[in-house]
Amino acid sequence: MSQNTNTMKAWQLHAFGLENLKLGSVPIPVVKPNEILIRVGAVSLNFRDKAIVDGIYEPELVKTPLIPVSDTAGTIVSIGSEVTRFNVGDRVISHLYSHWIDGAPAPDEPAHCLGMPYPGGLAEYMILEAESAVLAPATLTDEEAATLPIAALTAWFSLVTYGQLKAGETVVIQGTGGVSIFGLQLAHALGARVIVTTSSDAKGEMARKLGANEIINYVTTPDWAAEVQKLTNGKGADQLLEVVGGAGLNDSVQATKVTGQISVIGFLAGQTTNLNLMQVIFKQTRIQGIAVGHLRAFEAMNAAFDAYEIKPVIEKVYPFEEAVQAYEHLAKGAFGKIVIKL
Ligand SMILES: NC(=O)c1ccc[n+]([C@@H]2O[C@H](COP(=O)([O-])OP(=O)(O)OC[C@H]3O[C@@H](n4cnc5c(N)ncnc54)[C@H](OP(=O)(O)O)[C@@H]3O)[C@@H](O)[C@H]2O)c1
Repeated sequence: MSQNTNTMKAWQLHAFGLENLKLGSVPIPVVKPNEILIRVGAVSLNFRDKAIVDGIYEPELVKTPLIPVSDTAGTIVSIGSEVTRFNVGDRVISHLYSHWIDGAPAPDEPAHCLGMPYPGGLAEYMILEAESAVLAPATLTDEEAATLPIAALTAWFSLVTYGQLKAGETVVIQGTGGVSIFGLQLAHALGARVIVTTSSDAKGEMARKLGANEIINYVTTPDWAAEVQKLTNGKGADQLLEVVGGAGLNDSVQATKVTGQISVIGFLAGQTTNLNLMQVIFKQTRIQGIAVGHLRAFEAMNAAFDAYEIKPVIEKVYPFEEAVQAYEHLAKGAFGKIVIKL
């Protein structure tokens, strides 16, 4: 808390562009009956956070000044009069789609996302609706817990909630970014055989240490899908996490088995694709769009992090004052997550 006890330090976006992210002082928000106030311990950055700052992610929804960054872990310091789920002192994590608790999402879920349009966690304190927070896994620090809300839940929702992953199945993970490393760790913990594609042999070795069984360098082996077929004796993988998108979706259909599941998560290579429908039809491929996940899945995933003692991979932790440098690091790419600690 700042010297005046009614104010807190907060980063605010005043206009699009990283040069307009400024550290300042704002009033500490006061809880409504259904809300909790947390003292922020750490936040982690995602592609979405950078895209919001750059003005390329639903810019029409952004109201400045905005406290950015959705993924936050911290300790409850105050609770509203109607809150029964939590107590002061509990360690909790934010949930991006704050109104999506279970089942199918409502059409307006993006209107209730944290870090935009709702205020985010890049501040000393943050308000959460009590129904939308989850207890942090006991085995994780705030820095580790702050990495889970988007990247880990997206991988879990793909592999487990939709994919119903079973031990012994084969999973292809594209690349070694935030979502992909969680996909690798979770699939490995659940007993799957994991094939990782990467542009870097060095990152491939790091992925191997996290449990990857096979590494394919997609630069030196552009026909990586044929390689997956070889590695699975011509059957193809049971599941694939598609973070690349674009025209490569055809390769992903080739790399997966008949009735295999492709979780469409990212669009690093493009938001549109020229899909070979005949291949999809003959293989009866299940192409599943993924938008992070709901709160019940988040709770189930947190139990798995404790049970399997999975430790999130963090490339660097920045101090609060160096939030801009953290964003710049994210833009360059990272193996695992970038965290800002308060
Ligand atoms: N739908 C959702 O709910 C959801 C949730 C989170 C993220 N996303 C999206 O998912 C994508 C990834 O997010 P992220 O946060 O994990 O990104 P990230 O941390 O920036 O990861 C990028 C990584 O992707 C890999 N990559 C790039 N081009 C590739 C290619 N052609 N083949 C294989 N791998 C390639 C690279 O791995 P190497 O360096 O190893 O080559 C790179 O390091 C983004 O488009 C993001 O917007 C969607």
